[in-house]
Amino acid sequence: MTSGGDAPGMNAAIRSVVRTCAFHKIECVGIYRGYEGLIEGDFKSMNARSVKGIINKGGTVLKSARSKEFRTKEGRMKAYQVLKEAQIDALVTIGGDGTFTGAMIFNQEFGIPVIGIPGTIDNDIFGTSYTLGFDTALNTVVDAIDKIRDTASSHNRLFFVEVMGRDVGHIALNVGVGAGAEEILIPEENLGLDRLLESLRRSKQSGKSSSIVVVAEGDKIGKNVFELKDYVEQNMTEYEVRVSVLGHMQRGGSPSCFDRVLASRMGVKAVESLLDGKSKFMVGLLNDKMSLTPLDQAIKGQSKINLELLRVSDIMTT
Ligand code: F6P
Repeated sequence: MTSGGDAPGMNAAIRSVVRTCAFHKIECVGIYRGYEGLIEGDFKSMNARSVKGIINKGGTVLKSARSKEFRTKEGRMKAYQVLKEAQIDALVTIGGDGTFTGAMIFNQEFGIPVIGIPGTIDNDIFGTSYTLGFDTALNTVVDAIDKIRDTASSHNRLFFVEVMGRDVGHIALNVGVGAGAEEILIPEENLGLDRLLESLRRSKQSGKSSSIVVVAEGDKIGKNVFELKDYVEQNMTEYEVRVSVLGHMQRGGSPSCFDRVLASRMGVKAVESLLDGKSKFMVGLLNDKMSLTPLDQAIKGQSKINLELLRVSDIMTT
């Protein structure tokens, strides 16, 4: 099942789980709408052919939801009974930390073996260098910023571009470097308003006519990106400022080849780990190898951002 925010590559992971089951002659059932569908028994038997033509599709064919009922003991009890009736012995859950927290509690209460596959554009999961959807989202955002740059430079404007990432700055940091942003504002490093102004002034004086500032949605420098625009406009008359909030388009689109390959590897590892008797692990990619991290560590651990990228960005904007 897929749960939480959808991410490109989820379908490729579903395909991989289903086909690995078929390969090992295990029955596979797709659970629709995440934990909501689990409680309601919204299941469909799947074979190798059920997942044809989906490796290149964004979103998730199994649909996704954020279930309130599954957060209650009664809800989970219902889910357990439904699973038992359907003779389902183990779960592969594809999602982020909310999904894994639900899976872990469910396992602790009812002993159902679970393996998690990290799927979120935010890349905010400990135990994997890449989550499914992150790479695709980076390419989508870089493409959008390239387009914004065309209009920014035609009008000599400064653009604040807000990108997703929840509480972390992985997307902002990477696209900031990849799209040549003037500044990158992330929650992990508060630049401060004075230094932002200073940096924008410096850039104007150095002869740049337009600028892009990438702002992670979780950044704390301004109350929000629109107030940041007002602040800069009040304190700098040199620039005409515009804001672009990219929003949910960052979660859509056909997965990149990287995400498709990663999803295929993760699906195989998830099913084969269950067959090896493993449970309460998340599959991940560490040092280019498939790895297993205990689910509780994956949930509690912090995915560290790459501060070297901040320095690279600083040097690139000289
Ligand atoms: O976790 C993925 C994500 O897209 C975040 O980047 C964002 O903060 C959040 O989900 C948006 O959630 P929703 O789709 O519920 O608005």
